Amino acid sequence: MKMLERIKDRSAKVGVIGLGYVGLPLAVLQAKTGFSVVGIDSVAAKVDLVNQGNNYIGDVDDAELRDVVQSKKLVATTDFSKLHDCDVVLICVPTPLTKNKEPDITAILKVTEHLARYAHPDLLVVLESTTYPGTTEEVILPRLEEQGLTVGKDLFVAFSPERVDPGNEDFKTHNTFKLVGGVTEGCREVAKAFYEQSIVKIFPLSSPRVAEMAKVFENVFRSVNIALVNELTLLCDRMNINVYEVIDAAATKNFGFMPFYPGPGVGGHCIPLDPYYLAWKSKEYDIHTRFIELAGEINENMPYYVVSKLQRVLNQRGQCLNGAQVLVLGVTYKADISDERESPATKVMELLQRENATLVYSDPFAPSISVADRQYKSQDLTPELVAGSSCALILTAHSAFDYDMIVKQASVVFDTRNGTRHVQQHRDRIILLS
Ligand SMILES: NC(=O)c1ccc[n+]([C@@H]2O[C@H](COP(=O)([O-])OP(=O)(O)OC[C@H]3O[C@@H](n4cnc5c(N)ncnc54)[C@H](O)[C@@H]3O)[C@@H](O)[C@H]2O)c1
Repeated sequence: MKMLERIKDRSAKVGVIGLGYVGLPLAVLQAKTGFSVVGIDSVAAKVDLVNQGNNYIGDVDDAELRDVVQSKKLVATTDFSKLHDCDVVLICVPTPLTKNKEPDITAILKVTEHLARYAHPDLLVVLESTTYPGTTEEVILPRLEEQGLTVGKDLFVAFSPERVDPGNEDFKTHNTFKLVGGVTEGCREVAKAFYEQSIVKIFPLSSPRVAEMAKVFENVFRSVNIALVNELTLLCDRMNINVYEVIDAAATKNFGFMPFYPGPGVGGHCIPLDPYYLAWKSKEYDIHTRFIELAGEINENMPYYVVSKLQRVLNQRGQCLNGAQVLVLGVTYKADISDERESPATKVMELLQRENATLVYSDPFAPSISVADRQYKSQDLTPELVAGSSCALILTAHSAFDYDMIVKQASVVFDTRNGTRHVQQHRDRIILLS
């Protein structure tokens, strides 16, 4: 088959649509593998950055990006007509939620229209965006078949989820198991052959729906387990039990237990969003996914819990939130990365604003943020800043923070991430989630 030959000798041209956290690392990986890659993004500023060799994604190596751009192995564009020359197209566009927490697949729909326009025989299309089971076969496939192509013969369609864990130094795209579900056996084989060129471990599946379900299940699993430990934290707080000690104790069991940790809420583009894709789809089948809804409810309540506990902490010191200067430490959604999307810090800060607290924040990964239309700039984390604040509120425990200094200078530290666990002195100033 011509398609397989072009994949195996790496003469196939690869299009990656969406050059964000998922798409840019993937485009660089494919270019490094030897394919000619065209990266397509609707945002011209991103395209310009890529073409100048300027990296904007933490998981991409600056030098690797420069190399593939200089050697013209990777070229970025906003021009979708370039799809006409592509043999393989990987779709990595965002899949957010609407305000009412329903799937918003507008970007997938738009991309599908472009693909339909430029589709040609011998084309492999793989959706990598996280979405509800059924999207590949119900949304993308019919539109491409309308172009007179026959799936499994001259059109190959698959779903293969991206599972990147931003900031994870051990597991990147190339060494993480790649699930591949093709519409037909032929689709699966072509998609598998393609990914085998660059990724060490491929796990073929019987259909795109299984792969779509597996990806959402992984994120539901995390959401539910985080909710479980968050709920336990509320109970531990009432019972005056340190939840971290409980988790460490349970984790000594060599089997059947996996530690999850509480926090001020869940963030990022995956855990707070993806489960709702499945909850929405399940209603079509008269199933109400109660675990998903319950986990969402518990996790989304955590910022409110943090603010009410902070109120309690200040109250015990004869202070109130109104007028207090709260120094927020860390605003990105997890430690040591720059992604602020869906960060619970934004919600906590918004709630603190409503209580008329004076907010200052420090985060080496986020120079500025906006919270409910107010702009904030990150402050240098100096002893004076900490000492001059009513309390320090740790929302993201970046490893760059000097926790000894923070605890030494602060009158009280409300640490929602247990970032201060190694601090020995003045531990009486530290308040944990429970
Ligand atoms: N970020 C993660 O850690 C992660 C991990 C696994 C899976 N995913 C999934 O991967 C998908 C992409 O996520 P991301 O984090 O890379 O998002 P992102 O917002 O970082 O990147 C998406 C890119 O697509 C571009 N784009 C948007 N609409 C477009 C369109 N119509 N045409 C062309 N380009 C368009 C945006 O400008 C942006 O550059 C989502 O479905 C997400 O759930 C993300």
